[in-house]
Amino acid sequence: PEIRREDYTPFPWLLPAIRIDFELGLEKTRVVATLDVRRNPAGEPSPAIRLNGDGIELVSLKCDGTDCADRMMDGDDLVVTLEGDKHTLEIVTEIDPSANSQLMGLYASNGMLCTQCEAEGFRRITFFPDRPDVLSTYTVRMSGPKAQFPVLLCNGNRTDTGEEGDSHWAEWHDPWPKPSYLFALVAGDLVARSDSFTTMSGRKVELNVWVRDGDLDRTEHAMESLKRSMKWDEEVFGREYDLDLFNIVAVSDFNMGAMENKGLNIFNTKYILADPETATDGDYDGIEGVIGHEYFHNWSGNRITCRDWFQLSLKEGFTVLRDQLFSADMGSAPVKRIEDVRVLRGVQFPEDSGPLAHPIRPDSYREISNFYTATVYNKGAEVIRMMRTMAGEEAFRKGTDLYFERHDGEAATCEDFVTSIEEGAGLDLTRFRRWYSQAGTPKVGVALDHDGDVARLRLTQNVPPTPGQPDKQPMPIPLKLALFDRATGTHRGEELVVFDEDSAEFTFEGFAEKPVLSINRTFSAPVSIERDVVREDLVFLAARDDDPFARYEAMQDLMTGYLVAAVSGDLGDNEREAARADIAQAMQSVIEDDALDDLMRGELMSMPSQAYLAEQMLIADPGRIHAEREALKADLGARLAPQFHALYDRAEKVAFSLDAEAKGARKVKTLLVAYAAASDPQKAAELAAYQYDRADNMTDRQGALMVLAGLDSVARTGRLLDFYERYRDNALVVDKWFSLQAASLHPQVVDHVKALREHPDFTLRNPNRVRALYMAFAANPAAFHAADGEGYRMVADLILELDPINAQTAARFVPPLGRWRRIEAGRSALMHQALERIAAAPNLSRDTFEQVTRSLG
Ligand code: ARG
Ligand code: ZN
Repeated sequence: PEIRREDYTPFPWLLPAIRIDFELGLEKTRVVATLDVRRNPAGEPSPAIRLNGDGIELVSLKCDGTDCADRMMDGDDLVVTLEGDKHTLEIVTEIDPSANSQLMGLYASNGMLCTQCEAEGFRRITFFPDRPDVLSTYTVRMSGPKAQFPVLLCNGNRTDTGEEGDSHWAEWHDPWPKPSYLFALVAGDLVARSDSFTTMSGRKVELNVWVRDGDLDRTEHAMESLKRSMKWDEEVFGREYDLDLFNIVAVSDFNMGAMENKGLNIFNTKYILADPETATDGDYDGIEGVIGHEYFHNWSGNRITCRDWFQLSLKEGFTVLRDQLFSADMGSAPVKRIEDVRVLRGVQFPEDSGPLAHPIRPDSYREISNFYTATVYNKGAEVIRMMRTMAGEEAFRKGTDLYFERHDGEAATCEDFVTSIEEGAGLDLTRFRRWYSQAGTPKVGVALDHDGDVARLRLTQNVPPTPGQPDKQPMPIPLKLALFDRATGTHRGEELVVFDEDSAEFTFEGFAEKPVLSINRTFSAPVSIERDVVREDLVFLAARDDDPFARYEAMQDLMTGYLVAAVSGDLGDNEREAARADIAQAMQSVIEDDALDDLMRGELMSMPSQAYLAEQMLIADPGRIHAEREALKADLGARLAPQFHALYDRAEKVAFSLDAEAKGARKVKTLLVAYAAASDPQKAAELAAYQYDRADNMTDRQGALMVLAGLDSVARTGRLLDFYERYRDNALVVDKWFSLQAASLHPQVVDHVKALREHPDFTLRNPNRVRALYMAFAANPAAFHAADGEGYRMVADLILELDPINAQTAARFVPPLGRWRRIEAGRSALMHQALERIAAAPNLSRDTFEQVTRSLG
């Protein structure tokens, strides 16, 4: 059944305090939950209480101390008749964590026990009103064999411990009322890196990062990131931590990145463990970002949570914005902005233009897990970022202060957030609210005329129809812009224009000559800009725009414009040559600009992704896009060989460190090897093998191997083998080994992936491993879109095989197939077939069923 946002009603009961007793065992855990329930004066009077369950069996139920017969099962839910206003329920369930392959609720991972309750996993532990607007204080007792589970952790503070023979127990109390999705428990043989943080009011907080024995020396970066997050949230948002203890636990079997459980964050090992030998620069950045993200949830998510799951972007959009701003402050802000936009355009724009399009605050769903999307997260962050841009930093902070003060302790709505920003920051967001209700990426038409000494900017907007939303209203779009004087290369200052009609016109006086327009600077609005711009202007901006994002954008536009035209086949030889020469010239100016750091230079030299290019076309031919993109790469590699060579030589001399200069050097090195692979494969193989062999860090080594994996060369086999032998005991690095082969440009990737599927280290039980092989494959256009449809068949096979084991992870492989309407006819039919084959399978999970039916439309 579909759940609809408009059907929200408050829960008729309150559960202010609950107590849970766990007798822990890997195969059998007994759960005794004691719930104080009383009528909610704000709810509709109800003769019964509905307690959600999912795949659990009731052992016993007592109401006010006696067996309760007046109950029934309604599907998975337990419905208990209650007459008075106040009762105590005691619910006993028994679960088998070792059989829990869905990794929701309480499950076993490598001999330890851990939980994942967001969004609806708590109901797999005990019967409970498993919805985010029911807030309770939790007291938890857990007991189990000391040898197997020497460490017992839960939310809040540990209040007592004891021993009984081979068994021991711990009692935990969390003073902060919370919804069930923030509950967490961990029991296992773990060791901690410990540290402390003194908050702005002078409270000392104990910090622990818990990992398996042997992983301790890879936790330093995680701990440092945590301390930086805590400090940053105090300084930038005025938010202080509110318990005396903050625990983080790393687990290797995890469906997502990490989880913000109160006082006990649980992380995918991928976002904790790092050292230079085994983690790339990207991994280091990912850890800092995710640690920040989960920590920031303590206020944006936990102290103020969501009223219902339609409000998910209230906590996720805001928290993503917070982690983006944090990472920008910790490193290179412009590069971080470019990375964020790349994710948005590479993942979220396709969502917005496909069958799964939904607003950042959806109106209906069948399975909420399917709505943990780039739209809710990343577009959600962009929407709040626009409010910040329009208000200015200081006024925006007044808005967030008001939000935190007004809604602390509540389960709030997106509307509550917007109202707080509106009042606190002094904005009128009446029309702006449309960003919450309308799906689709606005297309903004831009034209600049010049007449006399006046430059006239004409803007139009069009929000395309999306499933269930055929007609759209115009939205307020804040665009930062600058008008450059062609002769001096300068402008008179950046302006912000906000337009909220179908079209608008702005005039700028005092321009004797037509200026060069730089628009949507810093990517101030998550829209796609459609403008008629001459290549000459893009070359100009690529060389000298003072907004790094706009400069990057000019480079991207230059390449995108050429590639889209080349793919559509309407470029003559002369035009082709002229465009390629311009791109090469722009790239040369980027290489030779001494004012640039290499991290930024690497961004400016990167080609638009195949996914982004496909998105620019109504109907894409993946084969042709791939061919043209590789051809441009080869052309640039050949034209700029001397410049590329000199740049590599310079970068190679930079010694390893984790500072920006050395990171930048590593980034351009691998980029240059990749260009060489297109223009001169044999030389590239030598260079890659050389880089691989002398690497003293994972970034260089993995980068070299990525390129080698795509080449037909003897060096390929040897280095792949070497890499595996070196790191076979490190699961996260073995993931990289699977991934880079599935992502390679080698013509036989399809066969490689089939062989890797049979590798003894491959398993469907570990989401990281599954994603390493198959997400990399599904995102590899040349392989996934193999013209005979083999890639589609493989992904469909995977979905069907994985669905009964881990539905949440299986469903995440549907969207790549859902793109069928936007792909040329031959492949489109094969993608459609693959989807229909999945749809026809019996016993599909709700997760996969929803994604497949929506994708078929
Ligand atoms: N709240 C977590 C985060 O963004 C993600 C949890 C996702 N859980 C899920 N079942 N989809 O930090
Ligand atoms: Zn989050």
